[in-house]
Amino acid sequence: MIEGLFIVLEGVDGAGTTTHTKLLAEALRGRGLPITTTREPSDGPVGALLRQILTGRVVVPGISGARPSSWSTMALLFAADRLDHLEATVHPNLMDGVTVISDRYDHSSVAYQSVTAGGEADTVAWVREINRHARRPDLTLVLDVEPEEAARRRKERLGGHEIFDASELQEQLSSFYRDIERYFPGDRIVHIDASGPREEVHAAILHQVRVLRGEV
Ligand code: TMP
Repeated sequence: MIEGLFIVLEGVDGAGTTTHTKLLAEALRGRGLPITTTREPSDGPVGALLRQILTGRVVVPGISGARPSSWSTMALLFAADRLDHLEATVHPNLMDGVTVISDRYDHSSVAYQSVTAGGEADTVAWVREINRHARRPDLTLVLDVEPEEAARRRKERLGGHEIFDASELQEQLSSFYRDIERYFPGDRIVHIDASGPREEVHAAILHQVRVLRGEV
């Protein structure tokens, strides 16, 4: 049995990773490929806890009132969720020859947790270390959009406020993602200009997957 491909979509909130995960899966399925889509935080037990923290449902009691968990607690939870996600969903599918498309992976941890660490030294190295056993994707597509456009898209979508929604943080994340490959030497990471119409972005994504598959 030939293993499936592991493809990851990444970017700031509002970049379109969820939409394009779905569109890519539909396109590949239409070509007869076995595909599954998944996401991080995952739908597993640690992922469910993370979503409660992200929406403010679970907080840390503090002297000056309730607050979200610290960046380092978040980094460890995301790493635990990732390994559980790999074990429960990603690996079994890949072994069955199914291509797995994940909406976010450990690039999100390196970006979000190190940016929210607020300039503390060696954060990236530590986040990468706790994710050492996370299998590398065959292809990571980083969707690049200007922070203003991402903010506009976030406003349009349904759903409540999340702890990483602040515009200033999203701007920092946007510049972090611009050259995120420097933290992942050896990974195949391709940037996609995601500021244009949905169909054009989808075509650019599909093209990169076809290049990976040796079709073009
Ligand atoms: P999403 O479902 O909108 O993508 O929300 C997930 C949020 O969690 C998003 O703001 C990015 C953040 N995140 C991290 O901070 N670290 C991680 O490792 C992952 C996977 C997501």
